[in-house]
Amino acid sequence: MSSRAASVSEKAQADNYFCEVPNDPCAIVMFGASGDLARRKLLPALYDLAIHACLAPRFRLLGFARTEMTDDAFRDEARESLSKDGAKGNEGTLDGDFLKHLQYFSGNYDDSEAYARLGRKLDQLDQQGGLGGNRLFYLATPPEVYPRIVEQLGKSGLAKPKTKDSWARIIIEKPFGHDRDSAQELNQRVLQVFDESQVYRIDHYLGKETVQNLLVLRFGNGIFEPLWNRNYIDHVQITAAESLGVERRAAFYESAGAMRDMIQSHVLQLTSLVAMEAPATFEATPVRNEKIKVLQSIRPYREDIVAKSVVRGQYGPGSVKGTSVAGYREEPGVKPRSSTETFVAMKLLVDNWRWSGVPFYLRTGKRLSQPETEIAIAFKRAPHVVFHGEAVEPNWLVLNIQPDEGISLSFGAKAPGSQMHIHPVTMDFQYRRAFGAGSREAYATLINDCIRGDATLFDRADSVEAAWALVDPILESWRNDPAPPFPNYAAGSEGPRAADELIASEWRRWRPLA
Ligand code: BG6
Repeated sequence: MSSRAASVSEKAQADNYFCEVPNDPCAIVMFGASGDLARRKLLPALYDLAIHACLAPRFRLLGFARTEMTDDAFRDEARESLSKDGAKGNEGTLDGDFLKHLQYFSGNYDDSEAYARLGRKLDQLDQQGGLGGNRLFYLATPPEVYPRIVEQLGKSGLAKPKTKDSWARIIIEKPFGHDRDSAQELNQRVLQVFDESQVYRIDHYLGKETVQNLLVLRFGNGIFEPLWNRNYIDHVQITAAESLGVERRAAFYESAGAMRDMIQSHVLQLTSLVAMEAPATFEATPVRNEKIKVLQSIRPYREDIVAKSVVRGQYGPGSVKGTSVAGYREEPGVKPRSSTETFVAMKLLVDNWRWSGVPFYLRTGKRLSQPETEIAIAFKRAPHVVFHGEAVEPNWLVLNIQPDEGISLSFGAKAPGSQMHIHPVTMDFQYRRAFGAGSREAYATLINDCIRGDATLFDRADSVEAAWALVDPILESWRNDPAPPFPNYAAGSEGPRAADELIASEWRRWRPLA
């Protein structure tokens, strides 16, 4: 056992993951600290990093929000959220030591005096805690506030590294804009204040272990890449299905919908990773260069293509896992005649040498029968079947991103008996079984990467804009074309019939939600 391994907590040893080299000490300023994201995702992620020896023993977390609160009250809230749903996989380990690193700072996001105070507070933390002047600003507020915070960080001088040996970085949550123009404007504002190398636009899907495993599968193995093209692949299906409804986020979701909320970000990220060429090295610039080429090669959605290739849906009342649930229009905060889509299915074509003619079918929706995120690659069938009367199923390579992380490959095998009957069987890699531990929360991976200064799994200004450029014409076309009669799928189903028709018109069908 390395001396580092021996010095980390039992929990980190048992989970078999910890940071080999401790990260730089730093102060993390979390804007929007009293919000839902901070409580449900960010605090647990930081806690996870702390107990796995990834945060320097001297880090400080400064929660910044408008609500007045004492440090102790903030710590109590953090304790409550960590013990409620935050300690995923870390149950029973809530260690008061982590809470001692938390402090609270109340201020208005556009009040320059508050930022002057924040600067003094950070200087004081540097002196007391030896944080080396390193600062990470995390924007977890509603997106309308981002420009004001960025401007104030610029004016107050906090956006610049404090010394030549320290760093200042900013993580910006999605949604990054609500169309290409607003994303461009936000990029301009951010880049007036920060250098691109300081900016980390987060899409938490990129932090999921199985998403990163896709890159390892493709580029760390010799056997898949030769098959990874139009000669062997029939089509690709990417599914991000949720059984949850809109929960308490109607105010945001009503003006976002599934296209903005999931397709523009998470699903297009997955598409880029499936379709990209091998980067020269696994570093931010080469990886991001390859990803953006995919977005630039996707056939644009003209109005006639939208009508043929994109389906939208909205859930009505129904039953999910035996429990009756309301329809979208009956959810608190949703307009009774809302035309916001909670489901999208679409066909996408990547016009390049590798993928020409291979359809990618994407689908996402809320209140579907099962939560399931997967990337499924359907290979072409054997060109000739020598086994008389036997139908041979295509081979599937399926990357299960959640809930059961793993990869499986299906193929035909002879069923026992004197007859020649072919049955599909699978070879499975299950993350938990192979590594003896659940995967790390995506947010923990990404915050850790940011502290280490590694932007590989974050989005660059040009690719955020390119993703918007793709979906904008679809949204525009929907604005001119009234929504189909909504609701058009029952909660707990697999989505609207039109989605099945979309894929069936090309003699294919969706994989059932498991
Ligand atoms: C968020 C969306 O980005 O991702 C949510 O805003 C969605 O609507 C969530 O529920 C899904 O993330 P995950 O990690 O639960 O698949």
